[in-house]
Amino acid sequence: MPAELTIVVPTFNEIENVPLLVAATEQALAGVRWEIIFVDDNSPDGTAAAVRAVAQLDARVRIVQRFGRRGLSSACVEGILASAAPIVAVMDADLQHDESLLARMLTRMRQGGVDLVVGSRYAEGGSMGEWTRGRVAASRLATRMATSLTRTPISDPMSGFFMLTREAFERSLPRLSTVGFKILLDITASAPAPLRIAEMPYTFRTRQHGESKLDSLVLWEYFQLILDKAFGRIVPVRFVSFALVGGFGLAVHFLILSAFYLGLQTGFGLAQTAATIVAITNNFVLNNLLTYRDQRLRGPALLRGWVTFNLVCATGAVANIGVAEWLFGRETYWVLSAVAGVLVSVVWNYAMSSLFTWRR
Ligand code: GDD
Ligand code: MN
Repeated sequence: MPAELTIVVPTFNEIENVPLLVAATEQALAGVRWEIIFVDDNSPDGTAAAVRAVAQLDARVRIVQRFGRRGLSSACVEGILASAAPIVAVMDADLQHDESLLARMLTRMRQGGVDLVVGSRYAEGGSMGEWTRGRVAASRLATRMATSLTRTPISDPMSGFFMLTREAFERSLPRLSTVGFKILLDITASAPAPLRIAEMPYTFRTRQHGESKLDSLVLWEYFQLILDKAFGRIVPVRFVSFALVGGFGLAVHFLILSAFYLGLQTGFGLAQTAATIVAITNNFVLNNLLTYRDQRLRGPALLRGWVTFNLVCATGAVANIGVAEWLFGRETYWVLSAVAGVLVSVVWNYAMSSLFTWRR
């Protein structure tokens, strides 16, 4: 019998939690036609193999294993797209989300009249479990920012635990950003018309096995999602990030230039060369970390990436000088000529590095 409900579970290094989660789900959803899809980003701890071992015993368990990519939101989206059930849920693998809520969420969905049921830590009766005060405060602030985007007030738009109709998901799909962690926020903010939402309180449990993947860069990813939702239809957020990094690189360039030329009193040529190398390397590292976080180059790929990035920037510089000189030769004000040259090279570097350095 085909499944009525697909539970999508993103995983990264959750080997110990996989069998526990399947057992807990089985208990919680007795009598329901469910299936569970783990979307694993090729975890080094062998999570995918653990899922396959369970799947050999239970046909309701499936795996989508991704290669060379990271990202919680995109994993959830691909899991939902890999299933046919009319109702889908997203739940973390680490048992922090109370799986017994699934049955009540499903009952609510079957009653109709709602597109989305959100497991909420803030709704009346919900709780943060054992979170630190600082994390509670940060989460509440981010929640307030999010509410301005989703249009429908949700007490916990940051929740990673929710259930929705496939139909509602498909309405949001064309406008999803899929950057970062906040897939629920992405879905609600991408809906062409506000979704009909119900909330159900639950208590966020403490993780027993493995560790959280939320690091200091999730704030940056959250900022990217907000940017994309606000301006994404005008400029792609990757380009904004690339340009910001470029602007910062310019500052680095002048810092090194003056350190060599003014500080160490070297010749100008040497100072400019050192500044160029450092600035390009700086831009490469930051873009790899921030702009292309979801397809970050590591290990030997780093060297190849750095070399192609240098080639891209070198050709970009030639284009920059060419355009600036051409405009200047036609009586364009010198500042305008220079700005036009810089703009051309930023667009060139962005386009070419996405083709040759961070190619898919
Ligand atoms: N495929 C994939 N790729 N899965 C990932 C990745 C990734 O890059 N990063 C994290 N995950 C998986 C984890 O394995 C886990 O199952 C789930 O996503 C949540 O990650 P945690 O690292 O446990 O995050 P958290 O507990 O700090 O925060 C989570 O719960 C909050 C409350 O619901 C997240 O889901 C938050 O978005 C959510 O607000
Ligand atoms: Mn967790």
